[in-house]
This record gives sequence, C-alpha cells and structure tokens, in this order.
Amino acid sequence: MRIQYLGHSAFFVEAGKLKALIDPFYDEDIKQEFSLNDVNTIFLTHGHGDHIGHTKEIAEKTGATVIANHEICLYLSKFDLQCHPMHIGGRTNFPFGKVKMTPALHGSGIETEDGVVDGGNPGGFLIEVDGKKLYHAGDTGLTYDMKLLQREHVDVALLPIGGNFTMDVEDALIAVDFIKPKIAIPMHYNTFPVIEASPEAFIEKVSTAHGKILTIGESFSF
Ligand code: NI
Ligand code: MN
Repeated sequence: MRIQYLGHSAFFVEAGKLKALIDPFYDEDIKQEFSLNDVNTIFLTHGHGDHIGHTKEIAEKTGATVIANHEICLYLSKFDLQCHPMHIGGRTNFPFGKVKMTPALHGSGIETEDGVVDGGNPGGFLIEVDGKKLYHAGDTGLTYDMKLLQREHVDVALLPIGGNFTMDVEDALIAVDFIKPKIAIPMHYNTFPVIEASPEAFIEKVSTAHGKILTIGESFSF
C-alpha cells in the first residue's frame, strides 16, 4: 500500500485496484504522485468543508465512487455522483478490499448556500487491501472505542493532533496506546492557526508504535 500526504487530512492511497483519495481538501499546487484521472474512490469521513474539499469536482471528472455515511450520500445524490453509503461499525467487501466505518466524536454538518445540511455522524475508515490495514481517524476527540481497533492489527494509523476541533498531541498519544498500530502518522495540524501543533513532539513521545511525520507531498509505502 502506498500513501501520499496531501496536507491537512487529505491522502492519496494506492493498493491493488484501489486508487483513492481520503478527505480531498488540498492545495492543487502539490506535486501529485498519481494521476487524478485514475482515482476510482473517494472516502469522506464527515461533512465539514475542510474534508469534502474537491470531492464534487473530482467525482464529476473521474466518475469515482464516494464512500461516505448515508446522510452525506443523500446530499451528494443531488449532484449525480456515485456514492456508496455506509455507517458506523459497518464493514463491507468491495472489489478492491474491505472497508469498515469507525466512530468519531465530532460534527458533520455540511455548509451549503442554503444553510447547514445534516451530514449524519462523523466517522473514520479502516481500509484493508491485500492484508494491509490503514486507519484514517477522520476528525475526532479521543475515544475509548479506539481500544477496539487494537484487535484489527492496524499497520498505519493516521491521527489528528491539532487540538481545538480534534485530539491534540497529548490525546493522540493515548490513542496510539489504545490502537497500537505499527506506524502512527500525524495529520490535521498547522493548516490554520487554531490547530497549530508540533508533529515532532508527537513523534518524540510516541512509544507503542513507530511515529512518522509525512511532509506535505511525501509518499510512504508499507
Ligand atoms: Ni471536521
Ligand atoms: Mn477538520
């Protein structure tokens, strides 16, 4: 499995038949190590603008299937996009592998010109392809439910550390202890002043996993 960090909570993921974007809110100037035309799946953890990002444009252009909760799929159906609805705790077999939607403690309202639309419950994703497991936590506070993920034997966990809207470094370290992934990668920090955080502080203290900082645009294979 190969991932490229696109900044904030956005990642490109390539594994087998899967060529996916997760929460595609990113700066288009980033040197993409993939062709946008090849993207066949877009994972959306929740309805906030800094996660929906370029979803509509990319899905329109590529015909990619969006995987999101039921309420976000209902909202996206207005734009004629392909959407596969899931919900918290559900696991599904796709042609490329397995996906489980995990809980997140957060909001999910979708800001539109006509006001805020219900975006259901926020979540995260456990994506399994050819025996490799990637966990993207979405936006979430620390939750004791994360302990259940230890049983999943996660290879790489992508965890928010920016605080204010999500876990900060201190709580993300506890999350790593709960999840016990092989590798923990911080995300959702330093995009805005209110989520300033030190990924180095996270890496320095992370003990039950190998911590890794991905700079924006950097790729990592596992
Ligand atoms: Ni959010
Ligand atoms: Mn966010």
